Amino acid sequence: MKISVYLALSVNGMISNQKGVPDWLSGEYVQGFMSTSQQTKAVIMGKTTYNILAPDNLPFKDEGTIVVLTHDTSAKSSQSNVIFTDQDPRAIVALLESRGHTEAVIIGGTLTVSGFMKAGMVDDLHLIVEPFLFDGGLPLIKDAGDYKLALVDVKKLSDRTVGLQYRVLK
Ligand SMILES: NC(=O)c1ccc[n+]([C@@H]2O[C@H](COP(=O)([O-])OP(=O)(O)OC[C@H]3O[C@@H](n4cnc5c(N)ncnc54)[C@H](OP(=O)(O)O)[C@@H]3O)[C@@H](O)[C@H]2O)c1
Repeated sequence: MKISVYLALSVNGMISNQKGVPDWLSGEYVQGFMSTSQQTKAVIMGKTTYNILAPDNLPFKDEGTIVVLTHDTSAKSSQSNVIFTDQDPRAIVALLESRGHTEAVIIGGTLTVSGFMKAGMVDDLHLIVEPFLFDGGLPLIKDAGDYKLALVDVKKLSDRTVGLQYRVLK
């Protein structure tokens, strides 16, 4: 299975500011988030990110699979395609494969991306760089080790926003 990460970043590599308010994300990020999620039909996120998006801003409704990492596996969603799990990245990939998926996208946050990076399960990073510097907030990964990447693509998405694609070298 191919696993990608899709996230917006400040210029200094933060995925959220200290306030934790996602008011800095561009239309280009949102558009890419929706189209990547629609394309894979399999999305992985942590419970904190889920709590920000649910119930109205999840990337799709009653199709595909939305995996949410949480220790509260008895959590309930208004959508039947949401699976709350505390399983490790390998077991999550096996679950998605058993549901017919061949690709999936991780959409946040730091803890979730870090867990999949540490497990060696991430193939690609799609990073939307927004024109901000954040003093504080959350980085893309934390306590997850160092990685070497290969640059695959660079796109100027607007006068403000750049899209970067990297492959994780394993
Ligand atoms: N810039 C972007 O593109 C972007 C996108 C998404 C999110 N964000 C930002 O990211 C921030 C959230 O990131 P985060 O790192 O705090 O949270 P997160 O990864 O979204 O969620 C963390 C939660 O997921 C659960 N979890 C994670 N790993 C687990 C594991 N191995 N086993 C069981 N449960 C696990 C835990 O939930 P329980 O506590 O329920 O057990 C944990 O508290 C927010 O500020 C949000 O705005 C930014």
